[in-house]
Amino acid sequence: MNKDTPALSTDALLQEELFQRIMALKKEMNALVLAHYYTVSEIQQVADIVGDSLALARAAEHNTADVIVFAGVYFMAETAKIINPAKQVLLPDASAGCPLADSCAPDEFRAFKEQHPGAVVVTYINSTAEIKALSDITCTSSNVEHIIRQIPLDQPIIFGPDRNLGAYIAKKLDREMILWQGSCYVHEDFSEHLIVQARAEHPDALLIAHPECKASVLQHAAFVGSTKALLDYTTTSSSQDFLVATEPGILYEMQKRSPEKRFTMAPKEHDRSRGVCTQMKQNTLEKLYQCMLHRKPEIVVEEELRLAALRPIRRMLELSPA
Ligand code: 13P
Ligand code: SF4
Repeated sequence: MNKDTPALSTDALLQEELFQRIMALKKEMNALVLAHYYTVSEIQQVADIVGDSLALARAAEHNTADVIVFAGVYFMAETAKIINPAKQVLLPDASAGCPLADSCAPDEFRAFKEQHPGAVVVTYINSTAEIKALSDITCTSSNVEHIIRQIPLDQPIIFGPDRNLGAYIAKKLDREMILWQGSCYVHEDFSEHLIVQARAEHPDALLIAHPECKASVLQHAAFVGSTKALLDYTTTSSSQDFLVATEPGILYEMQKRSPEKRFTMAPKEHDRSRGVCTQMKQNTLEKLYQCMLHRKPEIVVEEELRLAALRPIRRMLELSPA
């Protein structure tokens, strides 16, 4: 080592070592590592593909890997397995669930459906395989508008489990939808009064928000879009300053693509621990390495359930814009 090169800390050395081992395992296993934008930056650095829910579902569909390692939350890895039954699908921490998905119990959802016979059931990909199996079409925040537009106007629609995303689309398309009352704790916690204050303090910053935020917050946003749409907006907009109302993991990619621009998280009602998706942050380099080394936790979906859940996912992939 050159005497002028600063020595790496133990943490950095450990991280570098894990990084190298994961890269070697990827080759050895013919594994594809997928990571959502909400995971920690070191996971995003080691992943083959980093994306939002739709991009990752597509990547899970089109690849030649033998093993898919999904650094995200359970429903994402489960969706990858539903699409690819022949591949081994691993999730670094099997307890990384999504409270929004878990808030929609199949028995209650079935009863909800029975109250509205004849309604087409569109559900957010942030749902369990059991809920997908009770649905007609799956969607993500990237393609929901496109999908709802293709449903005839006289056709009643049940939408779940995220009420904020459903209400946003219903308002935008001026269309009634029967909403399941679920929400994402990370996005639900942005507060209108604090955002109004923050905008007064950063008059040049544009507020951009994910549609999982409440309507009271979205009404102040200059742009509303899925994680990917928000990212694209920050790269193409001439604004130099953004107030961001979504999960902070996306700031890594925003800042990487636009190093000269300024990104500030929009304020939240509660303390910092509620400001991030703790389930996404359960993916660490150490867990990623261990899961590849031991090939577990592995996602298993019973075949009858898989086939029933595959139908609405296929429908989504057919109806999505290219
Ligand atoms: P998208 O990746 O579709 O923007 O969804 C955000 C999210 O909450 C993922 O869990
Ligand atoms: Fe679920 Fe919200 Fe976390 Fe996405 S950000 S995984 S919707 S809890």
